[in-house]
Amino acid sequence: MRRQAIAITLLSFLTVGIFGQYSEKYRPQIHFSPPANWMNDPNGMVYHNCEYHLFYQYYPNDTVWGPMHWGHAVSRDLVRWKNLPIALEPDKLGYIFSGSAVADKNNSAGFKNSSNTPLIAMFTYHDPEGDKAGRTDYQYQAIAVSRDDGRTWSKFDKNPVIPNPEKLRDFRDPKVFWHEPAKRWIVSLAVGDHIRFYESADMKTWTLAGRFGGEGVGAQTGVWECPDLFPLKVEGTNETKWVLLVSINPGAPMGGSATQYFVGSFDGKTFRSDDPPDRIRWLDHGRDNYAGVTWGNVPNGRRIFLGWMSNWEYAQKVPTAPWRSAMTLPRDLGLRKTSEGIGIVQKFSPETAALRSAEFFNLKNKNADSKLPLGKAGEPMAEITVEIDLTKSSAGEFGIEAANAKGEKMVVGFEAAGKRFFTDRISAGDSSFSKDFIKGRHYAPRINTDSTVKLHVIFDAASVELIADDGTVAMTDTFFPSETLNDFSLVAAAGNARIVKARGWPLRSIWK
Ligand code: FRU
Repeated sequence: MRRQAIAITLLSFLTVGIFGQYSEKYRPQIHFSPPANWMNDPNGMVYHNCEYHLFYQYYPNDTVWGPMHWGHAVSRDLVRWKNLPIALEPDKLGYIFSGSAVADKNNSAGFKNSSNTPLIAMFTYHDPEGDKAGRTDYQYQAIAVSRDDGRTWSKFDKNPVIPNPEKLRDFRDPKVFWHEPAKRWIVSLAVGDHIRFYESADMKTWTLAGRFGGEGVGAQTGVWECPDLFPLKVEGTNETKWVLLVSINPGAPMGGSATQYFVGSFDGKTFRSDDPPDRIRWLDHGRDNYAGVTWGNVPNGRRIFLGWMSNWEYAQKVPTAPWRSAMTLPRDLGLRKTSEGIGIVQKFSPETAALRSAEFFNLKNKNADSKLPLGKAGEPMAEITVEIDLTKSSAGEFGIEAANAKGEKMVVGFEAAGKRFFTDRISAGDSSFSKDFIKGRHYAPRINTDSTVKLHVIFDAASVELIADDGTVAMTDTFFPSETLNDFSLVAAAGNARIVKARGWPLRSIWK
C-alpha cells in the first residue's frame, strides 16, 4: 500500500508540474486544495523560518476518506502554496488523525541536534483494528520530530505520549502551544462532549490539568472535535481574552458540521467561559467551514485561521475529481466588544489582496433597482465589497449575485426585515450528488444596525466566502455550477438598495 501511495502521489505531483494542472472543472483557483485525492482537516499549522506550514488529513489512494496521512504544503505569503511530499504515514499504531505542530525553540524535548529548531508534531493515532474490534481505547496521542523545517519526520520511539487508559471513545485532535507564564506546553484535546487540557515541560510526559464543557455547555448535538485555545486582544483595549474553538459534528444548526467558540479566561490549567453555559456561538454560518484552527508562532500577535471548506454531510460525494475538498481562505481573527458581548471578528488576511487585478467596477452613491449589472470578472474568482445605506433603501432584500448564461446563480445578501445576512446556493448548479447539500438558504443571526450594511465577498470557482458587518459575520458555502459563475450583479428585491460604495476586483489564480 505504501509503495502504491507514493507512486500515485508522485504521479499527481508530476502531472501538476508538467501540465500546469489545477485547471479542472470546479478546481479552486485561490484556495488551497491537494493536487489529487482526499483531504479533510488542516493540521500542524505553524509558522517557522518564514514559512506557513499547512499539513492536512490526507488519503492519497482515493477521493474518499481512508487511512489518514498528513499531507503537506508550505507558503511564504499565505496566498501561493507549494505542495510537498506526504509528511506522516500510518503505521502499526494506527492512522494519523488531526493534530498540531510547534517550533521547540528552547529544545524542551531534547530533540535538537544542530542549529536548526526542531518542529514537533502532535497528533492522534487512530487504531482501526481496535475500532473494528469494538474497543473504545483506539485513539491516543503521539509526537514526531522534524529537524529539517518540516521536510522529513521521525516518529518518537516511545509513543503514545498520552495513552488512553480510561478508554475514552473520542479522544483526539491535540492542539499544542507554549504557555509562557506557566513555562509549560499546554495541549487541548477533544474528548466526546468536552475539552481536556494537559500540561507538559517536554512534550513527552503529560498531566491532566483541566477540563471544559460537558453536559449543558455550548452545542452538544454532536461530538466535539478539533479544539484550539489562544489569547486575543480585545480591539481598542489592553484586555486579553482567551478563545476556545470547538468543532462539532454532526448536529450543526445548518446541518452536519460547524465550529462553535467560547470566549473567556485561561489560568494555565483550565479554560472558563464568560458566557452562560447555554449560549452558543458559531464561527461561521455557512455550511462549509469545519475543523478550522489557527497558525501558531506567527509574529506580531496575529491569529490566522484556516478551515476545511466542506461538511461531513456530503464531503465525500461532491462532484470533483481527481481531488476532493479545499481549505477556506486564511482569515485574521480579532475580538470586539459589541452589544452582544465580546465576540470574534474575522477579516480576509490582508495578503489575499495581492491577487487583485485592475478593478472591474467602482461605484459610489448609486441605486440598485431589481438588478444592477456589475460586469464580468472574466474568470469566476472575484472580490467584491459593498456598502449599502439602509436609511435610503426600501428593498426587502439585496445582495450580490454571481451567475452564468444557464441561469445558475449564487447569491449572498441581506434580508432587511430579519436584519440578517444569507447565502443562497439553491440555484447554483449541481446538487444531485447528495440530498443533504441543499437545505434552503443559510442565515446568520440578526445584526444590530439601522444605518449601513457592509459585505465583503470572495468568489472562487466553487465557493463563496462572505465576511460582513465589519467582521462580526462570516458565511462560507461551496457550489458546483455547470459553467462558471462570472457574471456579477447587485440584486434588490421589491425596492431599491442604495449603494454608498461598491468595488470589485478579478482575482488571479494562485496556481498559474
Ligand atoms: C474532524 C475529524 C477529526 C479527526 C479527523 C479524521 O473532521 O473527524 O476529529 O481527527 O477528522 O480524519
